[in-house]
Amino acid sequence: MTTECLILAAGLGTRMKSEQSKVLHPLGGRPMLQWAVESCREALGRAPYVVIGPEADDVRARFTDTVSFVEQAKRLGTGHAVMQAADKLAGRSELLLVTYADMPLLQPETLRRIVEAQAGNEGPLTLLSAHSDVSRGFGRILRDDDGRIIGIVEEAHADPEQLRLRELNVGTYCFRSDWLWEQLPKLPLSPKGEYYLTDLVGAAAAQDEPIGSVGLEDKDEMIGINSRVHLAEAEAVLRQRTNRRWMEAGVTLYDPATTYIGPDVEVGIDTVIFPNTHLEGKTVVGRRCRLGPNSIIRDSLIGDECRLEASVVEGATLEAKVEAGPFAHLRKGAYLSQGVHLGNFGEVKNSTLGQGVKMGHFSYIGDSTIGEGVNIGAGTITCNYDGERKHHTEIGEGAFIGSDTMLVAPVRIGRGARTGAGSVVTKDVPEGSLAVGVPARVIRKLKTDNG
Ligand code: UD1
Ligand code: CA
Repeated sequence: MTTECLILAAGLGTRMKSEQSKVLHPLGGRPMLQWAVESCREALGRAPYVVIGPEADDVRARFTDTVSFVEQAKRLGTGHAVMQAADKLAGRSELLLVTYADMPLLQPETLRRIVEAQAGNEGPLTLLSAHSDVSRGFGRILRDDDGRIIGIVEEAHADPEQLRLRELNVGTYCFRSDWLWEQLPKLPLSPKGEYYLTDLVGAAAAQDEPIGSVGLEDKDEMIGINSRVHLAEAEAVLRQRTNRRWMEAGVTLYDPATTYIGPDVEVGIDTVIFPNTHLEGKTVVGRRCRLGPNSIIRDSLIGDECRLEASVVEGATLEAKVEAGPFAHLRKGAYLSQGVHLGNFGEVKNSTLGQGVKMGHFSYIGDSTIGEGVNIGAGTITCNYDGERKHHTEIGEGAFIGSDTMLVAPVRIGRGARTGAGSVVTKDVPEGSLAVGVPARVIRKLKTDNG
């Protein structure tokens, strides 16, 4: 049966007390809405339609390539929100799956189960229900003595007896489209002045139509986001889901509760991740690495057998066997070749460090190309910025940069050259020479191994 999907996202989210659209609040490394969008896409194999409010330009901009939008000019309730999609959706499919953007933990499999149940159902709709002692402010599902669903009552309008009911409306429904589009305009106005989608359930029961229900097995899926407390709850569940997946895939998490792995991250087997480590964005980590504790790795490529401790790595690439930290900061465009060793308080930006480069203590390397096997002494700084422009520094293979050298760019240090401690290098140093002083002068040619 043909099925389309509609996600309601026009609500104001007033309980979030935020200036930002509720559905754009970050959750598990993504804007909240993206979870519902991807679950729908995975369940139905097609892009969903999303109902948004009139001032949701930020939502539109963020999702413009991934969904079709429907605008609800006035927020008159969930039933009214669906009605706004009539022009685009009536007659388009046999079934319509409707879900809410603030239920980001619903799994594609659950959505599929509702659609399948409705496809085999004679009645006009199937809904998702859950039994729980914690009501979360959800509507209660009403059944008659024979167990047939006869309606949904919102918590705000429920009488004390109804409040005691433990079967809750999770807020996802699959409708037979022809019935839905015919019934929606007949929805009554609720006491709150809204058109409730949930009132369609009572309407179907009044027509003596059978109403199907699918029970939610994993209670975590019913965490809806109405407040920031819920947001934190959902974040914890997503973290557990992701971390479990990586542990099952062969990654050791020393303390899963304090390990934060984004949804688009990849990690190789036998890597060990220590507490308070954040892997974010499009980060890819190789095998047998040791990451953390206390590290942030964002949009970076980390080769096999790397070790990073208490460090921040952003937009950087590390080949295999690189060590950094504690307290290293690798920034955008840092490329560390195999076996580079970076000790404490090293910062590298937009620079390539050749194989086996050693930079043990307190250094800044920016806009540079450093050859293989170079030793960068403690406190070395590339003075890459003259107040207006950035300049390049080049250090040839096997050079030895003395402690506290200032390399005033643009400048080149030749292969195998040395600089004395505390020198301020303003002119190029030829290969195999020693330069010292302020400003540095070449004082002699060094003996090389081959004379
Ligand atoms: C709704 C259900 C409730 C259910 C709960 C589960 C109704 C009337 N009630 O209550 O039975 O237990 O969800 O999560 O449906 N929205 C619009 N336009 C509007 C109003 C809301 O698009 O005019 C969207 C919101 O952005 C949100 C969703 O619909 O994503 C649900 O609205 P919300 O106000 O959060 O409803 P609840 O009070 O949670
Ligand atoms: Ca809600």
